[in-house]
Amino acid sequence: MSEHQSVVERLEETVKAVRARTSITPRVGVVLGSGLGAFADTLRGVEKIPYAEIPHIPPPKVIGHAGNLCFGHVDDVPVVCMQGRVHLYEGHPIWQVVHGVRVMARLGVSCVLVTNAAGGVDPTWAAGDLMVVTDHINLMYHHPLIGPNEEALGTRFPDMSNAYDKALRAKLAAVSEHEKLPLREGVYAGLLGPSYETPAEIRMLRVLGAQAVGMSTVPEVIALRHMRVPVAALSCITNLAAGVGSGELDHSEVEAIAKARREDLQRLLRGWIVEAGKP
Ligand code: HPA
Repeated sequence: MSEHQSVVERLEETVKAVRARTSITPRVGVVLGSGLGAFADTLRGVEKIPYAEIPHIPPPKVIGHAGNLCFGHVDDVPVVCMQGRVHLYEGHPIWQVVHGVRVMARLGVSCVLVTNAAGGVDPTWAAGDLMVVTDHINLMYHHPLIGPNEEALGTRFPDMSNAYDKALRAKLAAVSEHEKLPLREGVYAGLLGPSYETPAEIRMLRVLGAQAVGMSTVPEVIALRHMRVPVAALSCITNLAAGVGSGELDHSEVEAIAKARREDLQRLLRGWIVEAGKP
């Protein structure tokens, strides 16, 4: 691995290594967030490649995040899943945080669903609610496209007016109705973390128009939109955010709620993949 490699050179190296390990050409990509990784184990004929065996993808260190690139099928749809992701707050350079989704794009997926665990900013919501992301606010004070633009990936100034694809969102809504799983909609505020927010910060986010808050997703969505890959995102509201609910926030609570909604989320993901994967 060289310090002097460009993002595109690194991507090509990773894609070559991945292609040597699987014959599956994925049509749909899914990023599995905190506590949601078990979905990858339900893929038919799942093939797992540990991140540690793939050049340039660092293994995640957060409890609840496995680190495997997984290939398999849902019905007839070939899928690639990131079972676990790395976060900016772990100290990785931002190109590495988005490397996995860029690899998915280079493998040829036609769309990506990004999932996450998030805090609920709206006091009328409850832990366990599921939310389709309609838009985001980047409050990470960082950006994956800083530096010389990689023209081979996309334009210098990518449009973000429809970052969360309407047609893909409609498919999530249709599956949720069919599965009788209520879905909320809202704006995701991405913060750097790793401390949870203060109640004053959460009040600020409410004024800004956010319904959910988390520490991931935004860099990945920007990198995918740069490459013009259609994206949808789904948040599992694992807790009411600081000062909205009562009591202290704890990562074990986040994991427990994500686990409790696992079966429902898996039904939603499966249904969505079948729809999104139609040629
Ligand atoms: N804040 C930020 N990130 C989160 C939260 C939260 O309350 N819950 C899960 N991820």
